[in-house]
Amino acid sequence: MSKLESAVPGYTRLGVEPYTPNIGATINNVDLADLGDEGLRAELRKALAEFQVLFFRRQTLTPEQQIALARVFGDPDKAKAFFPRHDKHKVIELIETQPAGHRYGVDQWHSDISFSANPPTGTVLYSKIVPASGGDTLWASATAVFESLPRSLQIYLEELEAVHSFENSGWPNYFSQLEDGEAVYRKARADYLPVVHPVVRTHPVTGRKILFISPNFTDRIKGLSRQQSDALLTFLFSQFQKPEFQARLRWEEGTVAIWDNRATVHYAVNDYDYQPRLLHRVTFGEDRSF
Ligand code: SIN
Repeated sequence: MSKLESAVPGYTRLGVEPYTPNIGATINNVDLADLGDEGLRAELRKALAEFQVLFFRRQTLTPEQQIALARVFGDPDKAKAFFPRHDKHKVIELIETQPAGHRYGVDQWHSDISFSANPPTGTVLYSKIVPASGGDTLWASATAVFESLPRSLQIYLEELEAVHSFENSGWPNYFSQLEDGEAVYRKARADYLPVVHPVVRTHPVTGRKILFISPNFTDRIKGLSRQQSDALLTFLFSQFQKPEFQARLRWEEGTVAIWDNRATVHYAVNDYDYQPRLLHRVTFGEDRSF
């Protein structure tokens, strides 16, 4: 197959190559700096819904072009996390790690900002500086995980709701590394009270059921004792660790990953201690409860 052809029927503008059977696709023959054509943009949205995470190699994007790319999928000016921001373009978060610098605690499975009432529908991540090795990111399909569970457990889970909070995650530890950390932590607590989301949601585009929990942000299942909730969550979280449900990306400079934040969880591997790493992140869209 030439890089210009799609291995998947239904795409005439994009070269789509599935990455694994359950999640991910590499998209060839597209310059993400030039998205002026609605036909092309519609195929990008279709591919994101179908494959849940898309990978693009050898891209060169200005900050404005990355924001325009995010806008293809949703409004980039909605929920943001606590990362430092780009000087001129506040919707761009900087995921920058230096040898002796801060760590953000993203080495845990999570769906971005699920501790907010309206989490982003997706994220565009663009690599600027990458370690010679290490610093990969993994995604797991939360639809494939749900579909793999026994029907009786699926039915039980569909009744449940879970509490999500940033307090569970690496953010409080990150705040403690900042000079003004106490004030930042206080503000985060005031801005983000714990929220309740259904444990199982239905994807508004594909109609597939999603297991919407993550070890980073899901604190407990409502209506269960702490012991019962921990036992059930521990089992469910362990399902994300099955390689069958995962796609693992080795970053190169100029790689773009776009993911559906409703249908996936992701994990940034923290194994590159002495090497710098810099990615520009733009979250987009705003999930309603569904
Ligand atoms: C994130 O959780 O959005 C960061 C992913 C990464 O650093 O690879």
